[in-house]
Amino acid sequence: MGYLCHVETIISTDLEFAKKYLSEGQVIAVPTETVYGLAADALNAKAVQNIYAIKQRPSNNPLILHFANFKAVQPYVKNIPEDLELLAIKFSPGPLTFLLEKSNLVPKEITGGLSRVGIRIPSHPLLMKLLESLDFPLAAPSANLYGFVSPTTSMQVKAQLDGKIPMILEGGACEYGLESTIIGMESEKVVIYRLGSIDLDEISICLGYIPEVQNHASHLPLAPGMVKYHYSTHTPLYFLKKMEQPQPKQGYIFLSKIPNDFPKEHSMVLSESGDLKEIARNLYSGLYQMDLRGFDAIHIEAPEGVGLGLTILDRLNRATAKFSQ
Ligand code: TXA
Ligand code: MG
Repeated sequence: MGYLCHVETIISTDLEFAKKYLSEGQVIAVPTETVYGLAADALNAKAVQNIYAIKQRPSNNPLILHFANFKAVQPYVKNIPEDLELLAIKFSPGPLTFLLEKSNLVPKEITGGLSRVGIRIPSHPLLMKLLESLDFPLAAPSANLYGFVSPTTSMQVKAQLDGKIPMILEGGACEYGLESTIIGMESEKVVIYRLGSIDLDEISICLGYIPEVQNHASHLPLAPGMVKYHYSTHTPLYFLKKMEQPQPKQGYIFLSKIPNDFPKEHSMVLSESGDLKEIARNLYSGLYQMDLRGFDAIHIEAPEGVGLGLTILDRLNRATAKFSQ
């Protein structure tokens, strides 16, 4: 069985099933506190190849390894620099990914030949339980097809991967709704390679300095999640312009309030209270829902670029880039 055949995709909370599939070298979707992941045994080269094939992702784009705890990580890395350890103590388990020098145990297919490997200890309770029961780490990119919006519910996974994987482990709606923050060290200082669910301010406060953010779309990305077009909808997506007037057949996503002159039935709100955490949690779901409604275009209000707003802006810049040339 594999990506070439059509399989029945079950949605289930059964950890024994999940463990059985993973131990057989199959690829399944699992919940995390950020977004759903497309997981397989990281030490099984064939299983890892299948992740790339199912996701239609270029095979030089490295995968994050997920572990139950840092003790389990140790054999796979050379060392954990002090500043990263500080952040690990504060934020792990949780939505933070550490780029660490890898040991020989990490297969080269995982890192695309790079010397560092992405390591994450997720905090989703069901996934933690699953990881504790396995004697291998899980390699898992977000469970979307390459370039599209990451899924934050099992139904959104099914919408993209139905028939391609045997199981989606049901873990409810993801708590954070945006991918993990990716960090590493350069010249003895922490660098952020992908803004994520732990925001820049939280990291700066913990470190006592503001880390450099190398989050730009690079032609030779260190963290290729940085490719310019990403997190896209099928429907053209644009930032809502100031003073924009509502037009027919257009959808509108607002942060907290629908302005009086916009039609309610073409509009949605991400958080009535304007809470950034709630906006982040609902962002991808909101994009999924609006994408299904057959609008000619979707317009989304931009948040201010502070705290999590910076992460949200980063994702929306990439999601709109394809349509704004
Ligand atoms: O929240 C998350 O991080 C989710 C959940 C499932 O854990 N995972 C996720 O994985 O977002 P993915 O593959 O969709 O995005 C990870 C990004 C990719 O852009 C990848 O290129 C980069 O991290 N990355 C992974 N390992 C790397 C490495 N060793 N060096 C540089 N970049 C790396
Ligand atoms: Mg992804």
